[in-house]
Amino acid sequence: MALSPIAIATLFLVTTVSLISPSQSATCTSQTFRSNKLYTFCNDLPSLNSYLHWAYNPAHSTLSIAFIAPPARPNGWVSWAINPTSTGMVGSQALIAFRDARGEMTVKTYNITSYGPLTESKVWYQVRESSAEFSGGVIRLFATVVLPETGRTTVNHVWQVGPSVTGGVPDKHEFQPGNLNSRGSLDLLRGQSTGATGGNSRTNKRNIHGVLNVVSWGIMFPIGIIIARYLRVFPSADPAWFYLHVFCQVSAYAIGVSGWATGLKLGSESKAVTYSGHRNIGISLFALATVQIFALLLRPKKDHKFRFYWNIYHHGLGYTVLILGIINVFKGFNILRPEPKWKNAYIVVIAVLGGIALLLEAITWIVVLRRKKSDKSTKPYDGFNNGHGRQDPLAP
Ligand SMILES: *[C@@H]1O[C@H](CO)[C@@H](O)[C@H](O)[C@H]1NC(C)=O
Repeated sequence: MALSPIAIATLFLVTTVSLISPSQSATCTSQTFRSNKLYTFCNDLPSLNSYLHWAYNPAHSTLSIAFIAPPARPNGWVSWAINPTSTGMVGSQALIAFRDARGEMTVKTYNITSYGPLTESKVWYQVRESSAEFSGGVIRLFATVVLPETGRTTVNHVWQVGPSVTGGVPDKHEFQPGNLNSRGSLDLLRGQSTGATGGNSRTNKRNIHGVLNVVSWGIMFPIGIIIARYLRVFPSADPAWFYLHVFCQVSAYAIGVSGWATGLKLGSESKAVTYSGHRNIGISLFALATVQIFALLLRPKKDHKFRFYWNIYHHGLGYTVLILGIINVFKGFNILRPEPKWKNAYIVVIAVLGGIALLLEAITWIVVLRRKKSDKSTKPYDGFNNGHGRQDPLAP
């Protein structure tokens, strides 16, 4: 291998560490506004890929918000509402942003009394100012409103995205789980928002997808690589390491493919939002891992002249799968947003694996250098088997 083991270990560690830091901050905290507006709080809302920024002045009951969401289709609408009397859509006092007949972004208010067609109306709060902009596939709805009840600091909110607007009237939205779960309660002064409670089948599918892929790409593949890389240095572990490695990677592949399939299904169901980065890495991982499985069948004998090239190809692909797998697990965490303890637990697992790898890397080098010293008198070191004069102790 051209890469030295130390370089690989360092890369592994750097990748792990660099993924830890951004993973702990919410997405909305990095969002800025062209007008340099500043809000006290922001929240990554739990569905429809939406974000809410707000500032509340209790003395005047004024609430300034910026609601960011991608409309279901480019000519669609986005909406943020307070429901003063209940928790769902009916009864909610909505701000809806869309492109009006003149082609300008506008914000209108609706007292939503039923699931029927909407008519613009006065709402429970007074709107001081409102505006909207559409760029980069998302609509930003800005508003400053005055709440009629002073002293009320927790409100039920609802948000929504829709596909189209007909004759100046927002058309009805889809009824996917994401559209139905887009509500919660908002503590205006403490910055907390809770999502709607109660599981649904989509949440379960997403969790299954998450668990399968974390176990496979995020944990088993790295363990399989550690086995192959470090156990074989010990003559007593031969050929056990090989069977362990194959067993680990083939099981990881089987689990990974099921996880991948659940991901494709979720992707096909998620019409409003496409997580293209996560999706593309997932597809690449599946392709690379499938080629890796073929590598097993095409493996030349140890002393075959092509074995050297086979090794480069097998190791290159293996490390690519390792790194992409871990990156995609973190991308997945950012999409799924499970409770922080799950992501933290994974960070601990991967850090421990990284630590073990570093330790084994050091031990391997010590063992190999010792062996090299004692072999010097008899024959020049040539790697573990008939190598090509390479000094990498881990070269096959
Ligand atoms: C909204 O509509 C309901 C039902 O028609 C009505 O009772 C309520 O007063 C309306 N709210 C506002 C703020 O106009």
